[in-house]
Amino acid sequence: MTSASLTTPEAVSVSLTINGAHHALMLDPRTTLLDLLREHLDLTGTKKGCDQGQCGACTVLIDGRRFNSCLTFAVMYDGAQITTIEGLAAKGALHPLQRPRARCIRCSRRSSTMMRSSAATARRGKFARRQG
Ligand code: FES
Repeated sequence: MTSASLTTPEAVSVSLTINGAHHALMLDPRTTLLDLLREHLDLTGTKKGCDQGQCGACTVLIDGRRFNSCLTFAVMYDGAQITTIEGLAAKGALHPLQRPRARCIRCSRRSSTMMRSSAATARRGKFARRQG
């Protein structure tokens, strides 16, 4: 469990589970999820590209669905499960979607976005198969 605080009069309490770790935070309500991850929690695998919702470099999974974290205020997802690129790897082993791209430095920025989107799509497919 991590505690972080911002000492402003309008700070809001937020509780998030990020990559399986619980975080209780006091945040400025205007803090985007992207800035929370990168600047408060040092999870820099999620990239800031356009910061306008157009490039997808900031994609994270929120309760298994993909979102652009640059367009999302962290306080909107109190109690949610967030998965970043760091969270796709389990116990130090790369996620199957990460292995082929691990050696490619040129596409590392875009590939992390593709991996999170692919992981979300794969999970939805798995869920759909269970339903049908
Ligand atoms: S940084 Fe480009 S969509 Fe979020």
